[in-house]
Amino acid sequence: MNAHELRSTYIEFFVSRGHAQIQGKSLLPDNDPTVLFTTAGMHPLVPYILGQEHPAGRRLTNYQKCIRTGDIDAVGDPGHLTFFEMLGNWSLGDYFKEEAIKMSFEFLTSPQCLGIPLEKLGVTVFEGDDAAPRDEESAAVWKSLGIPEERISYRPRSDNWWGPAGATGPCGPDSEMFIDMGKEPCGPDCAPGCACGKWLEIWNDVFMQYNKTADGMYEPLARTCVDTGMGIERTITILNGKKSVYDTEIFAPIIAAVEKASPYTYGTDVEKDKSTRIIADHTRAATFILGDPRGVSPSNVGAGYVLRRLIRRAVRHGRKLGIEGIMLSPIARVIIEQLSGPYPELAQNQGFIIEEFDKEEAKFLETLLKGEREFEKLLPNLLKDPRRLMSGRLAFKLYDTYGFPIELTEELAAEQGMTVNRAEFDDAFKKHQELSRAGSEQRFKGGLADQGDMSVKYHTATHLMHQALRMVLGDHVAQKGSNITAERMRFDFSHNAPMSSEELIRVELIVNEQIKRDMPVIMNVMSLEEAKDYGAIALFGEKYEPQVKVYTIGDFSKEVCGGPHVERTGTLGVFKIQKEQSSSAGVRRIRAVLE
Ligand code: ALA
Repeated sequence: MNAHELRSTYIEFFVSRGHAQIQGKSLLPDNDPTVLFTTAGMHPLVPYILGQEHPAGRRLTNYQKCIRTGDIDAVGDPGHLTFFEMLGNWSLGDYFKEEAIKMSFEFLTSPQCLGIPLEKLGVTVFEGDDAAPRDEESAAVWKSLGIPEERISYRPRSDNWWGPAGATGPCGPDSEMFIDMGKEPCGPDCAPGCACGKWLEIWNDVFMQYNKTADGMYEPLARTCVDTGMGIERTITILNGKKSVYDTEIFAPIIAAVEKASPYTYGTDVEKDKSTRIIADHTRAATFILGDPRGVSPSNVGAGYVLRRLIRRAVRHGRKLGIEGIMLSPIARVIIEQLSGPYPELAQNQGFIIEEFDKEEAKFLETLLKGEREFEKLLPNLLKDPRRLMSGRLAFKLYDTYGFPIELTEELAAEQGMTVNRAEFDDAFKKHQELSRAGSEQRFKGGLADQGDMSVKYHTATHLMHQALRMVLGDHVAQKGSNITAERMRFDFSHNAPMSSEELIRVELIVNEQIKRDMPVIMNVMSLEEAKDYGAIALFGEKYEPQVKVYTIGDFSKEVCGGPHVERTGTLGVFKIQKEQSSSAGVRRIRAVLE
């Protein structure tokens, strides 16, 4: 079975059992400020698991693109991926444990579906603790289906409790399904859930019963829900008896594309194989981030920063394979071709994806060349240190002078058996931030002397326009100045070329759409670091108070700002751009009104 077949077999099975197929959502979650990416199929469904009615009903199924960046250093090892697809079925207050497990069992064993022999299946269930009871109910259902007791393993919360997807949200005990790979047990306690490699997990049924709140409490959900998740790549690997996800048909064309770009032939050197896999994984993840309908560009904050890191790490591993020029966009084309069927946004955004890859790669190659040259110059001296410790100040100098990322200095150092004094680096970095004071607060206060109703409206409209400009023109758009009166707003921002009338219309449309959506404007106070992680727009690196106000407008805009703002966007009226002109070199100016 290949990935396309698995995707459609799964969806058809659950549709035939009364589930509505719903669209997968953006990789950039809109209901969870605690994470940068959608990490599981249930993530976009959180509001419904928490009690809202879903327009498609109470039984849902889909496939969802996901990114987990937690383990970036393990990427390239046989089972680790940054980007993956997850299949799922959900019950929103409809069926619970018994029916969920019966359907999972049927899908796994039925010859029309996965056809896995019963004797190869094992499961785990939650063993219970102070907070939630032992899950005898699930165990009894598995038993009734023919799974013998010795292949039903009771495990603790650390293994059999799932969620929340971010820092807060729905969670509960789960029951995981495993395939016996036919290896000898590693010892007398070897059972499903054991990490020795005999049992590989293929699916997870979560019985959502609680909502973890921001203060760490577990509130019971108003109605119990089922959330299941089956990773497509992992399942294809197991079903086809492959050792690694990178040996599957999913990765074959991508690895072939990496080989085509490089003088290296896959399968001849352990380290270079790993680099090849890292390039394949990272390019796939970056292609999906760039191709997302919410299109992020590489930047120094939030999701854009992760994207930048993925691209840059791929490039660096390309150089280990002996690749010198631009290499990622040809690989991305293969991924776009392969996955535009289930994800049409990739084909739709192909131009943007390719352009952004090429731009970022060219920029980084230059940085890399300079940084590596400098590192090599430092090396003879560094090697003299018996502790094999590179000074954080030196690492900071590479960063400050050449833009050479600390992660890469650490990798170069590790290749020489050295570590970097990270605490010293962090210290130098912080001092540097404190020094580069540029009065950005002034800028953010721009035009707020007059705080009448109209000015407040213009202020909120400015945030909407700022975000819309970034969506239409790219993440390089940064506020350079703002001036507001009761009659109009004026906004200066970095951009190199006059805007086309189409771009202006798009910005207007986007802003007006957000006004129509009548979204709430919410203020939170947080540390600058938190604001950065949260993905708020700000002039990071410039002077702010340690605690800043962040204004969030629905799922649309997050910006560090002193305020004040309207409470809902619906009060703004109709937004109209009157004029777009040059303000100074590389800076454009827009004058707009609310009517
Ligand atoms: N949300 C669950 C998971 O990701 C199903 O494993």
